[in-house]
Amino acid sequence: MERTLALIKPDAVLRNLQGEIIDMMQKNGLKIVAMKMLQLSPKQAAHFYLVHKEQPFYQNLITYMCSAPVVALVLESTNAVSAYRTLMGETNPENAKPHTIRKKYALSLRENSVHGSDSLQSAEQEISYFFSAFDII
Ligand code: CMP
Repeated sequence: MERTLALIKPDAVLRNLQGEIIDMMQKNGLKIVAMKMLQLSPKQAAHFYLVHKEQPFYQNLITYMCSAPVVALVLESTNAVSAYRTLMGETNPENAKPHTIRKKYALSLRENSVHGSDSLQSAEQEISYFFSAFDII
């Protein structure tokens, strides 16, 4: 069993898409083992996306991630990291395959509705950024 971190981002929360996105996760065999809604501060968002610090889109990404609450989830399944990345679809929704979350719901490259860890190592780091061991079922 693997675990991965998922975020439902501000553009999706503002459109009340949490339920539909969670439904897609569950119907695709991803089990929710932790979940919470929170408002990120600019410092928290900046630290979460530190790997993109040098990118031209970094500041706008932080502003966007703080523009409304996010929902953070820990998802569990065999191959959870790759299974959830497949379900999310490409970062740019224009390139996302049909029946993926981003194809259905994303508004743009930045406002792409969801985030998912890109490796087991980043999943561990990202899960521990949002949740303590006591929060995870
Ligand atoms: P995510 O998978 O959370 O990882 C980094 C985020 O930065 C990405 O989703 C998008 O929200 C955003 N992003 C990535 N590339 C770009 C880009 N070229 N322009 C604007 N935002 C981007």
